[in-house]
Amino acid sequence: KYESQNLKKYMEEFLPPSILNLLRLLGDYGNEQNVNVYVVGGFVRDLLLAIKSKQQNDKNTKKFLFMDYDIDIVVEAEALTFGRYAAKQLNAKYVEHEKFHTCSLFYRISHKIIRIDIATARTEYYEEAGELPTVEFSTIKKDLARRDFTINAMAIKLNPESFGILLDFFNSRKDLDEKQIRILHPLSFIEDPTRVLRAIRFEQRFGFEIEPYTLNKLIEAVEGKYLEKVTGMRLREEFEKILNEPEPLKAIERMGNLNIISHLFEKTYYTPTLQKELEKLFQVIDFFNNNLKSYTKNVRIFHVVLYVLVQYTPVESLKRVVQRYGLPKDYISKLQQVNSLYEEINDLIKESFGKQYKDIFKPSFFYERCSSLDNEQLIFMATKIPDDILSYFYNYLKKLDELTLLISGKDLLKKGYKGKEIKIKLEEIKKKLLDDEIKPGEELSLI
Ligand code: CTP
Repeated sequence: KYESQNLKKYMEEFLPPSILNLLRLLGDYGNEQNVNVYVVGGFVRDLLLAIKSKQQNDKNTKKFLFMDYDIDIVVEAEALTFGRYAAKQLNAKYVEHEKFHTCSLFYRISHKIIRIDIATARTEYYEEAGELPTVEFSTIKKDLARRDFTINAMAIKLNPESFGILLDFFNSRKDLDEKQIRILHPLSFIEDPTRVLRAIRFEQRFGFEIEPYTLNKLIEAVEGKYLEKVTGMRLREEFEKILNEPEPLKAIERMGNLNIISHLFEKTYYTPTLQKELEKLFQVIDFFNNNLKSYTKNVRIFHVVLYVLVQYTPVESLKRVVQRYGLPKDYISKLQQVNSLYEEINDLIKESFGKQYKDIFKPSFFYERCSSLDNEQLIFMATKIPDDILSYFYNYLKKLDELTLLISGKDLLKKGYKGKEIKIKLEEIKKKLLDDEIKPGEELSLI
């Protein structure tokens, strides 16, 4: 009953005029080139979610509104010919992806660059599980049928005489209404095991549920070691997308419980302890974000989450994980550096006898040990530190973050300090400032 619904009036209501206009133009070019043109996938899904949530007076409507304006276009013709034509008409930048036989247009609307991916309607044959598919020309229906989940398998036609017509061949809209993640055919996960991670991501993002048959097939693929057949880079990409969602923790938990984590990272077992540490990790990240101005956004969350996940992994396995996911060469040594610091702290706690923590874990204590750690290591360190010590560590980080020295190496040089002495003296002054032994400004009197 949905198959021929026309969404034109909703598109006019929900889409920014510039995007609506862009879609109309693409449809016009279709007629000029005698080609059927469709917008497909996530764009259609999010439009329908926005319509539904508006109808239900849900205050989250905005969140479905095309966060990044990526537009997936399918044409029932040669994509590159159509793409070149459209790029010329729109005066957009044109990039060809030879290997995939697709192209992208980069089209500027005021300050935003909109990416439009154009592909030929196709069916795919997978010669080997986990490999990239062999491609053949086809119709829009077959193109949609090869996709990951029903909710991502709708299209809207853009040619002017049928602009806005929704194509829903697989009851996708029903699944959207009922909040179900459902594969379109039994081999979906076998053909493309990265869909295992995509299922988790969409489930968490939309608060949907992987329906039972699909979940069975997912588990079969995981237990059948199909994730292991995919390149680390493709898995890492999907894993990072999960980490960039608003609530990655729940998704990781789900992956842990479905045993996906162990199949992604050999010898990592998702235990309650690990889960607690991950919970703590995300609290630590919040602290860094909210309290430390020198905390830079370039912290790679994948690196940090992996520190937690692989910290107990034997080194031989760890080497393979590092290789598989393209982590830097010093990843393991950085991990070990934090691990041994953590052990030192644990030993000190055990031997503290009556001594007060505030006297042991002064800012200078951490400064001596942690000033060479990068932000990713510091976050992992904070995650590992026992709760009753954490406030001392945070205190150190905040103080260091706010620390400004009124003297520099040059001042020391003038006073006759030489070479190494300068560095040593500066460090000494920093530590005194961090421990409140001197007040800001008083460092001048120390040289
Ligand atoms: N797709 C698929 N199998 C995959 C990846 C993608 O079938 N392994 C299809 C889906 O139809 C998807 C479309 O390609 O909708 C575009 O993929 P992508 O841009 O990765 O996802 P979106 O659905 O657009 O989701 P997002 O909102 O995260 O961009």
